Amino acid sequence: MLLTNVRIATMINGYGLIENGSVLTQHGMIEWVGPANVTPAAKAIHDCGGKLLTPGLIDCHTHLVYGGNRAHEFEMRLNGVAYADIAKAGGGIMSTVRATRETSEAELLKSALKRLDSILAEGITTIEIKSGYGLDVETELKMLRVARKLAMLRPVDVKTTFLGAHTFPPEFKENHNEYLDLVCNRALSKAAAEGLVDAVDAFCEGIAFSVDETESVFKAAKSLNIPIKLHAEQLSNLGGAKLAARYGAMSVDHIEYLDREGVESIAASGTVAVLLPGAYYYLREKQAPPVAELRQHKVPIAVATDLNPGSSPVHSILTTMNMACVLFGLTPEEALLGATANAARALGLADRGTIAVGQRADLALWDVERPGDLSYPLGFNPLKAVIRNGQAARGQLP
Ligand code: NIG
Ligand code: FE
Repeated sequence: MLLTNVRIATMINGYGLIENGSVLTQHGMIEWVGPANVTPAAKAIHDCGGKLLTPGLIDCHTHLVYGGNRAHEFEMRLNGVAYADIAKAGGGIMSTVRATRETSEAELLKSALKRLDSILAEGITTIEIKSGYGLDVETELKMLRVARKLAMLRPVDVKTTFLGAHTFPPEFKENHNEYLDLVCNRALSKAAAEGLVDAVDAFCEGIAFSVDETESVFKAAKSLNIPIKLHAEQLSNLGGAKLAARYGAMSVDHIEYLDREGVESIAASGTVAVLLPGAYYYLREKQAPPVAELRQHKVPIAVATDLNPGSSPVHSILTTMNMACVLFGLTPEEALLGATANAARALGLADRGTIAVGQRADLALWDVERPGDLSYPLGFNPLKAVIRNGQAARGQLP
């Protein structure tokens, strides 16, 4: 397939724009990319009329599979109750855990598909989905199986992350070690043995797992050779990012309270900083992540929806990119890198996120003039078509 007369944001060194270019795909891969006037011959030629081509977008942090509904907590928060207090009173994550345990696998799949369809309408070709609303062996595995099934039902790659260490369920409130044993020695090993785990994550926070408790989860992941990520420094600075860096984490996520030392350690470990402006927005946080210091230390920055039923019911990567610009001061170029090249890196995927020879042919065609147009409007979707694995997957190719 040849796409020609197209403006290409290769996302190599920033936008990496090729003004009037073409891209040739073969066997699901990018075979050639360059200026349109020296285009090689091809069977199927699509003249894109000067539209913009980007890599397929990547949402590298979501909790898309869950049961129940927490809109009433939004009401509570706006009536003055804090997110952490709702959690302490058994709401928050635990409210979704109760609902997810009670929901059948078929029902979970059905509700997740609706959310996935909404998010795919904005050119997503790879999405990460976490467990973490089960907090028992059976329900954690149920969530991960649903995540895997989604990839069979829609044209999208799903990377699964085991988040058994999301919070302590009430039955283990007084016995953290026993719950850690369940997470590390029963749930994670079983899920991994069934091929359901691409990465391991934890929520390191005062209302969740301490740094030491998080480390025991990382040790279990390491013994199974599974890469790690971490929800770190979201509501306070516990030093979780530093620990994650020591374990060579692929990413640390949220990081509003990350300090200079934390930035230095993730810079040294090559860990991606994943910004989640949706949660910051919904929780009406005051402290923004240390973007200037991340830049200064050349830490790769990704942005993700954090799609979840509580702190970030956000189903739009384009909105998220806009929020990253308006709320955190990212440039539109950084925001697009955050949903392409750096999002791929946050998932440990070297074969996507840029438009280059040898990369997977996961591409999105947009009816816009400039790449910056993708982060600018709110609630406007200019997607024209998606190609995934070199096949037309959505919309109409010209
Ligand atoms: O990424 N921070 C922890 N976990 C999720 C929110 C979970 C919830 O509120 O359901 C997050 O924001
Ligand atoms: Fe999250």
